[in-house]
Amino acid sequence: MEKRIVLLPGDGIGKEIIYSAKKVLQVIAERFNHSFGFIEKQIGGSAIDEFNTPLPKETLEACQRADAVLLGAVGGPKWDSLPAEIRPERGLLKIRKELGLFANLRPVKGFSALIHASPLKEEIIKDSDLLIVRELTGGLYFGQPSERRNNGEAVVDTLYYEKNEIERIVEKAFQFAQMRKKRLTSVDKANVLESSKMWREIVNEKSKNYPDVTVEHMYVDAASMKLITNPSSFDVIVTENMFGDILSDEASVLTGSLGMLPSASTRSDSFGLYEPVHGSAPDIAGKGVANPLGMILSAALMLRYSFGLDKEATIIEEAVNETLIEGYHTPDLQIENGKIVTTDEVTSIIADKVAEGIFSK
Ligand code: NAD
Ligand code: IPM
Ligand code: MN
Repeated sequence: MEKRIVLLPGDGIGKEIIYSAKKVLQVIAERFNHSFGFIEKQIGGSAIDEFNTPLPKETLEACQRADAVLLGAVGGPKWDSLPAEIRPERGLLKIRKELGLFANLRPVKGFSALIHASPLKEEIIKDSDLLIVRELTGGLYFGQPSERRNNGEAVVDTLYYEKNEIERIVEKAFQFAQMRKKRLTSVDKANVLESSKMWREIVNEKSKNYPDVTVEHMYVDAASMKLITNPSSFDVIVTENMFGDILSDEASVLTGSLGMLPSASTRSDSFGLYEPVHGSAPDIAGKGVANPLGMILSAALMLRYSFGLDKEATIIEEAVNETLIEGYHTPDLQIENGKIVTTDEVTSIIADKVAEGIFSK
């Protein structure tokens, strides 16, 4: 049966890297006789320009009918002065909310060829392999409507969670911990925030159902320090929406570039929206130099989580690994004696490896 995949290029480098993912998926489809149908729709600034809204109805409806969605990135200076309600980023928040994608999985695992690409020392990053489970449809991003008050002299943003929203993300995180190294770090600010206190209570309560998982609580300020001084002490991290946003960009430093990190925005069924962790990178957009690996690895996550195609996902990840070992990389990365190539060139090298059949085990 054909899998319907909606492509949302978005803005900036999103428009470049999305085709890298599509190309690799087309090679997978051909090699393994899968049928992938691609439908392209607008989101973000491009949608504002064409339809006056960052999330047109037809885009949302196409996603609702699809088996999975691939998203590049949204935003850019052209739309920065618009009111928050109609900014490109609002389209992204809205699509996550409308599709009920409460669990954002952000795996952070470096490739061996990139061990010297990070500014951190090799001995610090060498055994790091962690998963950030970020709550995605609540918290500070989705509280009571933000507003300016007192004639613009005051402002309010609220952090609001309902108990069930915390419970379901915490359960997800425990389940992933069980499948991994059975260690869960819950990151919060329980020394200050009431929402974090409730978060902690729920983690402690849920931990009774997962006796094989070791739980630790950590304040977000200390966690951000430990993430780059002792990253291998983490297995699964579960945290509130904004904490997870910030910690994941920080964690990308372990891998050598923000352009490396994939993510899966998921819910309780197999549907998912797959997006790299980075943004639209206006500083390099249009130059053909964006790193497409986070996007390509997001497509691999789609195959694994939404379509149950684990072997195909592994083949893509291996092709990326092999490409880096051979030294091919975009300018955001550093590999000793490596060769700097463009977005399209590195994509073709990976696609050829995916097609070659050398990873058939
Ligand atoms: P950014 O992630 O776009 O870029 C941060 C830095 O990382 C830049 O120097 C950029 O060149 C570099 N970078 C990011 N991805 C890269 C890649 N694939 N290859 C090479 N270098 C890469 O963050 P920003 O500059 O703070 O934000 C730019 C715009 O993107 C803003 O409008 C922001 O709101 C938006 N944004 C969107 C998403 C998303 O759509 N998921 C995520 C983050 C930021
Ligand atoms: C991300 C981005 C988004 C977020 C922005 C663009 C709304 O930073 O996906 O990490 O904060 O969730
Ligand atoms: Mn972010």
